[in-house]
Amino acid sequence: MRIAILTSGGDAPGMNAAIRSLAQVGAARGHDIFGVRDGYMGLMDGAFERLRVRDVDGISRFGGTILGSARSEEFREAAGRARACTQLQQAGIDGLVVVGGNGSLTGAHLLAAESSCRIVGIPASIDNDIGHTATAIGVDTAVNTIVEACDRISDTASSHRRAFLVEVMGRESGFLAMRAGIAAEADAIVYSERGRGEDEIIAHLRQILRRSFAPERGKRRVLIIKAEGVRIPVAKLVARLREHLADDAPGVTLRETVLGHLVRGGRPSQADRVVAQRLAFAAALALEEGHNDVMLGWDVLPEYGEATADPRIRRVALEEVIAETERMRDGTSNLTQVRVNLLNQVEPLLSL
Ligand code: F6P
Repeated sequence: MRIAILTSGGDAPGMNAAIRSLAQVGAARGHDIFGVRDGYMGLMDGAFERLRVRDVDGISRFGGTILGSARSEEFREAAGRARACTQLQQAGIDGLVVVGGNGSLTGAHLLAAESSCRIVGIPASIDNDIGHTATAIGVDTAVNTIVEACDRISDTASSHRRAFLVEVMGRESGFLAMRAGIAAEADAIVYSERGRGEDEIIAHLRQILRRSFAPERGKRRVLIIKAEGVRIPVAKLVARLREHLADDAPGVTLRETVLGHLVRGGRPSQADRVVAQRLAFAAALALEEGHNDVMLGWDVLPEYGEATADPRIRRVALEEVIAETERMRDGTSNLTQVRVNLLNQVEPLLSL
């Protein structure tokens, strides 16, 4: 087969391991593998380049994606996708592997209906906001990066008797804040799925500051993790908390840090590399077996999708992935409710 691979949307650590894995599987199983430059933008321009194993030696250890990535408005339009179909046909591509997040997988689903080439998706997004996959490429590394950053902040915070408000990425999902917050011993985690308004958040955080720095508790550090998805600017929250700080926690200072893109880069963890390699292997097999318009998901619940040769991987229709992703966004997904309920149970313990 002639198989192409592209990485699309926000890059995620581990994407390179997926690219290398596909090149290796291709070499071992007699396929010609092509990389597409800059995601769907490159696909519309026919930017294919042959990927041999020697081209991908050692790339698993690098963050980002050696193929480049992009967010393409043009590909959302039928005319853009028609250009991509023509390029795929002209290059004689039989199978396309799309590595990306929700927007990229939605594009893959549309393309599968319009192109004669088979399309399979691999979930990659640090946000962990993709349906029917317990994790996506990049999530583990991003959580580890946040925890390390928070540990560093905790060192300086406790030296100075300070409170810190740290914002982490996650446009539509509070997963990174939740997971890293627990691991970094945060005193409070502010995430949109909880459904609190601004005044409620401020009241909650003031209570934590009062209690934590009270002489009978005597904390020297308070760490508040806020998810990007809570659309109140960090500066505004901090300004509002500072108005009362002299009363709530006399002598304490409050600082803010927005981790931003720092969380998206960096050396991929072993877990992200291994997940990426196995998903890419499964993607190649899925294409060989003639599957189309599907995503390979990691630790998918057994009632969804179909089993593959890898016991941790199931094949799920992209349409179903997109529908579940939407439910995760609007809060009706069972998974979102489980996550929120779990965190609700431990919330009173965080700030003890
Ligand atoms: O990849 C997901 C993500 O990192 C979100 O958490 C964040 O909101 C967004 O991408 C940022 O995108 P960009 O790099 O295009 O500003």
